[in-house]
Amino acid sequence: MSSRTLAPARPTAADNPTTLLSALGAREDLARGFGKSAARPLPGAVPLLGGAPSADALPLAALHEAAAELTADPAALVGALQYSVPTGIDPLRSWIAEREGVDASRVLVTNGAFHGLSLLFDALLDSGDRIVVEDPTYPLIFRDLQHHDVHVLPLPVSAAGLDLDSLEARLEAGERPTLAYTVPDFHNPTGLVTPAVQRARLVELAERYGFVLISDNAYAGLAAPGVDVPEDYPVESELVVRVRTFSKILGPGLRLGYLVLPQWLVGPVTRLRANQDQHSSVLVQEIVARVVGAGDHAPLDGGLDGIASRASAAYARRGDLLARLLEEGLPGGVTLEHTDGGIFRWVQVNDPGIDLAAAQRLARERFGTDAVLGRFFFLNDSEDDRGRLRLGISHLGEDGLREGATRLLAALTAPEARR
Ligand SMILES: Cc1ncc(COP(=O)(O)O)c(C=O)c1O
Repeated sequence: MSSRTLAPARPTAADNPTTLLSALGAREDLARGFGKSAARPLPGAVPLLGGAPSADALPLAALHEAAAELTADPAALVGALQYSVPTGIDPLRSWIAEREGVDASRVLVTNGAFHGLSLLFDALLDSGDRIVVEDPTYPLIFRDLQHHDVHVLPLPVSAAGLDLDSLEARLEAGERPTLAYTVPDFHNPTGLVTPAVQRARLVELAERYGFVLISDNAYAGLAAPGVDVPEDYPVESELVVRVRTFSKILGPGLRLGYLVLPQWLVGPVTRLRANQDQHSSVLVQEIVARVVGAGDHAPLDGGLDGIASRASAAYARRGDLLARLLEEGLPGGVTLEHTDGGIFRWVQVNDPGIDLAAAQRLARERFGTDAVLGRFFFLNDSEDDRGRLRLGISHLGEDGLREGATRLLAALTAPEARR
């Protein structure tokens, strides 16, 4: 495996505005996003995309009640409309700290997981550094990493989990990464959960070779009913940072998440954050604090865990339905990676005669559905989809999923999709 160098993106004043925007990632970067899939769907389209909760999984009543309670209390509302501290409001921070088993001083409330990641990359990466990234991975991190002149070391992910032998061999051979980025629960795009033994071994490697382990656990809490997920990476380690978000359970529009930092990183990351946007919306923090039951508030609608478990049960049913429809519609033709939760299904299309890019184009342009091609998640720049599609199951109800699956099958079996 070779490392890949991301284009240095430190623009100078001499750059023209277009180059500047491009280098800053402000223009759409099709190579490291999700392609054109998100653009202009056909009317009535039922795209199998999406990494967001469905309308029926969002805790509308709880959010309404929390907002009504807050806005009915003039003193609380005035507080929520004023400037605040960079770290987050006390009740929410304390609630997070208790949940994570750390002192509240280690919690930094952020505007979602992506913001947390961006802060960490800014705080920790220097030009020329090496960063270990799962392959495949959540590709939007490259929108941030392109601002840093770093080399990416792929850590292959398969049904067996992380290929830690290959990482250890690289480390033994003298490779010295600054960071490793991992998504432990219901990984995007594969849906896999990193087994406990591998988590322990990765921490051990981080400690032995001195790199920071970023655990982006955006899908934590979305286990199918009855499934136990191993503990997140240990907060006892000085080298572990947990990245969390309320996006996937309470709604991404809230833009709220948090970091659990080791003590030595609290000062630098908090200063960085204070110098960027000062703090997360106090209004949103106050509303979320009421929903989850922070401080004196009683949790609404079962609190975060109650809301998550109801959503997870619905997602598990939808995931099973989609798998059945695809497997019945194309017998032997598709294999779905086993997953015990989350909101993605990672599909292997077994027939090499199917040109997935052509099938996806047909799906989008003729049949009115969509899927993300595998190549957007792999770290090399190849056009090869490796027979993979990522399907999102969270945002459609069962009828929508049935329709989406029927349309996807029509695209996969169309003569124009054959090589
Ligand atoms: C692995 C992973 N991390 C982070 C995010 C972004 O989360 P947020 O909306 O909280 O920024 C996503 C969203 O798709 C994701 O899949």
